[in-house]
Amino acid sequence: MSPASFDKIALLYNFVEKHIWEDYTSACDIIDEYLILESEEKIIDVGGGTGLISKVLRSKKQNDDIMVIDLSRSMLQKVKDPTLTVVQGDITTFPLKDEAFTLAVLVNTIHHISEAKQQVVLREVFRILKKQGRIFILEISHPNTFFSNLFIKTENILVGKTYHLTADKMQLAVQDAGFHEIKVFFPKKYPYRYVTTAIK
Ligand SMILES: C[S@@+](CC[C@H](N)C(=O)[O-])C[C@H]1O[C@@H](n2cnc3c(N)ncnc32)[C@H](O)[C@@H]1O
Repeated sequence: MSPASFDKIALLYNFVEKHIWEDYTSACDIIDEYLILESEEKIIDVGGGTGLISKVLRSKKQNDDIMVIDLSRSMLQKVKDPTLTVVQGDITTFPLKDEAFTLAVLVNTIHHISEAKQQVVLREVFRILKKQGRIFILEISHPNTFFSNLFIKTENILVGKTYHLTADKMQLAVQDAGFHEIKVFFPKKYPYRYVTTAIK
């Protein structure tokens, strides 16, 4: 995808996520249930967009370093919290230091990245995580429901082709990138979403 793909929908992104799709509500619930923040985290929100997810993380803990990285300048312009570090760039090429973070969060990011590049992203996340650092991926599950299909078709029209992985394929991709202790969860309340967690 090009950096401009999300630029054209940035203005409406938060409204749609909060009031049209139940994407934001479900992400908040799922983060509450499946993501435990430890002390002194250094967090990177990969494809963090308008900062919705980082805002949730910030509300859970006040003092952690949180970096939001995203391709889209217009999405990042919607990040209003001055305590977040905002970086415009491609996660696969932006010069981030080795072992700089304790936690990488990718919410609805991977499916916007081409299949060939998804592995590069996961390897890059592995590189920038400290030893024992964690990855937390929240994705939409395989499109077998009316809601999922509608969501995916709408996204394709608005921001271009998407590349959804099944939970099994995601697990393999995360393993190939070097992670261990990989766990996959299907939240009961939101059957069209799944969480993958793993440790470096
Ligand atoms: C659906 S949005 C998700 C935004 C945010 N995570 C959320 O849940 O509200 C996907 C974001 O991933 C970003 N993105 C896609 N490929 C990227 C890459 N290679 N590096 C950084 N950001 C990327 C897009 O620009 C877009 O803002």
